[in-house]
Amino acid sequence: MKKILITGGAGFIGSHTAVELFAAGYQPIILDDFSNSEKWIIDRIEKIADQRPIVYEGDCTDPHFVDKIFSKENITGVIHFAAFKAVGESIDKPIEYYRNNLGSLLTILEAMKNHKVKNLVFSSSATVYGDPDRNPITETAPKKPATNPYGKTKSMIEDILKDSITAKEPFSIIPLRYFNPIGAHPSGLLGELPIGTPANLVPYISQTAAGIRPKLSVFGDDYDTPDGTGVRDFIHVVDLAKAHIATLQYLEKQTAPFYDIFNVGTGKGTSVKELIETFEQVNQVKVPYQVVDRRSGDIGTCFADPSKINKVIGWKAEFAIEDALRDTWKWQQTL
Ligand code: UFG
Repeated sequence: MKKILITGGAGFIGSHTAVELFAAGYQPIILDDFSNSEKWIIDRIEKIADQRPIVYEGDCTDPHFVDKIFSKENITGVIHFAAFKAVGESIDKPIEYYRNNLGSLLTILEAMKNHKVKNLVFSSSATVYGDPDRNPITETAPKKPATNPYGKTKSMIEDILKDSITAKEPFSIIPLRYFNPIGAHPSGLLGELPIGTPANLVPYISQTAAGIRPKLSVFGDDYDTPDGTGVRDFIHVVDLAKAHIATLQYLEKQTAPFYDIFNVGTGKGTSVKELIETFEQVNQVKVPYQVVDRRSGDIGTCFADPSKINKVIGWKAEFAIEDALRDTWKWQQTL
């Protein structure tokens, strides 16, 4: 079995990707410091896949630690998720965000270079488009300056990766620009584990439905959208995980140096209000909410044109919003 290193492999998207790697016949090697996950997530991956990932616990920015993994395992590709990801926190802790997110990427690239590992899938974000001039957003849309250090690290890393290919480093690299990942594993065994008060919409909705939070705040209903609330492209985490496997397989066919960028979304925009109503309908629960002021840094509308990844890589989102919200609620009830 080909061994694939997944940094941040115990996290929300990483754990689902580990399951899909097994399903596609790969051996996932997880590197995680468990700062934003739990050890039992590994048991859950094993329970679903009926196989156990190899796990290294430690710091992805540590060159000696990372080099040891590359020396011990015959790694054939890397999916790099390990990063701090809280937008608001990144404004308060820019040094930590730059050190961690840029440091882990550079450590991985150096280890790949030293050990002649070619293929890298990088976890990027639609945040690099900023407030887009038009929707749906294609990959040809200009990048715009991010309003927070988290977003800046995603954009900077894309530039670092592109520069390495311009310099003819022997890598094949694809950053995937995710839109809004939601949902949970349909088994109810894996899902998102937000620390403290969730910053993202769907975990906040499910905690409100569960009675953990009294009320959801809808951040603004005066956007230029059909019902005034924000519109996003919500993608089921299992679809997103599968996009990584398809991308890896596409990279395996390329001759290095190779670089290309792909959006990963459904192509469908859904408003915050529509999402709340759908959650209530499919799960038969109430989500009390109130409309409050806009959240600073938010944009009105952001949804993908996914036709490039559909055509070139042959991946397409299969789950509906209803599936994602049903799976989220199933997971929430286990917590
Ligand atoms: N929202 C609320 N109430 C909440 C939380 C969110 O109304 O309690 C609204 C937001 O205003 C926005 C929508 O729900 O309109 C989605 O907000 P999220 O925080 O869930 O997601 P964002 O679109 O703001 O950000 C997400 C990721 C970022 C990533 C970005 C890329 O969290 O990491 O998409 O577009 F950078």
